[in-house]
Amino acid sequence: MQLIVGNWKMHGRLASVAIVEALVRAGPVEGVELLVCPPATLVARLAEAARGSHVAIGAQDCHPAPEGPFTGDIAAEMLADAGATHVIVGHSERRIGHAETDALVRDKASAAQRAGLVPIVCIGETLAEREAGETLSVVARQLAGSLPETGRFVVAYEPVWAIGTGRTPTPEQVAEVHAFVAARLPEGTPVLYGGSVKPENARGLLAVPHVGGALVGGASLTPRDFLAIAAAAPGAIA
Ligand code: 13P
Repeated sequence: MQLIVGNWKMHGRLASVAIVEALVRAGPVEGVELLVCPPATLVARLAEAARGSHVAIGAQDCHPAPEGPFTGDIAAEMLADAGATHVIVGHSERRIGHAETDALVRDKASAAQRAGLVPIVCIGETLAEREAGETLSVVARQLAGSLPETGRFVVAYEPVWAIGTGRTPTPEQVAEVHAFVAARLPEGTPVLYGGSVKPENARGLLAVPHVGGALVGGASLTPRDFLAIAAAAPGAIA
């Protein structure tokens, strides 16, 4: 079973419920779990639209605390209350844009579990780190520092230089990192690949050993593209 996740990032208005309605109407893709992570403003609305269907709804970030004086932040418990089942934590756009450390990402992942959500913990090297031959050491440090101690979680490997650029690692490069990551995780932990996943390259990327699904940005905003990516998962029957 592969997990195909749409990360809408800072895109989507109330009218975007039509995207989830289209995914629901299209029916399940056998062998594939679909998850859509909209901005927090849309979680409750989309969860309502997807209720009882094969589409799950998640969020993009949470605060470590269950409540408190944290203006502008959102607790994992609030996301669960709104109908989310998963939450992305430690995306590079937050690690870099909001100076999030491994320790903070771990606290957020643990908070997600406390609230009954499955955290999707993102890791991945920058272009400079890859060019310096540091990919595996960066990924090892991020794994050691940002995973929750126990419980269920998902890891997403997203090379920073592949996000929104149309550039992707070769299948060999993906295979190297995914095998390295999988060897450091409890058996059965899904490891998603993310970074410029499109209908045209999804089949090749999803067939790489130890790739358990995809974290999709831009292409997740178009139901046809998102469904084509899901249908490209090994074993998928659309
Ligand atoms: P793109 O698919 O737009 O490259 O984004 C990837 C990503 O960051 C998903 O979390």
